[in-house]
Amino acid sequence: MSLLNIDTEKCKKDGICAAVCPPRIIIQKSADHYPEMVPEGAEICIRCGHCVAVCPHGAMNHERMDAADCPPVKNEWLPGPEQTEHFLRNRRSTRVYKDTPVDRDTLVRIVEVARYAPSGHNLQPVKWKIVHDRQDVTRLSGHVVDWMRSLIEQKSPLAEMLHLDRAVLGWEAGIDPVNRNAPHLIIAHGNKSDPTAQTAATIALSYLELAAAGFSLGTCWAGYFGAAALFWPPLKEAMALPAKHTCCGAMMIGYPKFKYHRLPLRNKPEITWL
Ligand SMILES: Cc1cc2nc3c(=O)[nH]c(=O)nc-3n(C[C@H](O)[C@H](O)[C@H](O)COP(=O)(O)O)c2cc1C
Repeated sequence: MSLLNIDTEKCKKDGICAAVCPPRIIIQKSADHYPEMVPEGAEICIRCGHCVAVCPHGAMNHERMDAADCPPVKNEWLPGPEQTEHFLRNRRSTRVYKDTPVDRDTLVRIVEVARYAPSGHNLQPVKWKIVHDRQDVTRLSGHVVDWMRSLIEQKSPLAEMLHLDRAVLGWEAGIDPVNRNAPHLIIAHGNKSDPTAQTAATIALSYLELAAAGFSLGTCWAGYFGAAALFWPPLKEAMALPAKHTCCGAMMIGYPKFKYHRLPLRNKPEITWL
């Protein structure tokens, strides 16, 4: 079976699939010809599915995805500019969570949305570890606090800049300054030797954060956690990531205890034009 299969009964020879193909492996010799794949196409194809998704006639099928398996776009579900702006401005970092746990299926569903984030060369290098038990989240926070203590002891400039002494004091008073007593933590990880993994994970976590908001869940980037995960051996061990993988970012997640009623303000964008 070929990588691409064009249903000649449906194809209208409009050339759209050839026009959008990122590595230009689809060519159409003339308006009378059906589109075809260049001989070396199978090795070059990045499996993005644009050829299948763009065809208005459902004529293109890819070895990885038949047109029939790709759901049609529901234009009536897409938000307009006002709704998009409101949704994005309404996303908040949640730092106070309800005790109610989020069921595993819901967390998986949100990760399932995050996998549609763009990635360089469509490599999709991000893997996920979900810390579901709150006690495990707190245990991991404890390792981060130990890392903070070590930075304070070494008089690291980072300790002063990030006010880590306050975080440690908070922990000692029973407050989790790292993961904010969130019931769950989602860690994005990737292969250390993959130069695309970090950027892809950052984008995928942003997708995850927005998807979570759509499910009435609260999230917050676990920045302290992400930094400690790169440097602190006991935390690396406790995360139990696959060999050769590194943490590329983490997100707290749970049901928010409080609702926000206004959209806070941000700096004006600094824009220059060329
Ligand atoms: C990379 C990154 C790391 C962050 N780390 C933390 C963190 O460790 N703890 C925390 O409470 N908030 C953290 N935040 C949340 C920011 O403080 C928050 O995004 C900012 O104050 C704006 O608030 P908003 O997200 O509600 O718009 C982080 C945000 C980003 C993007």
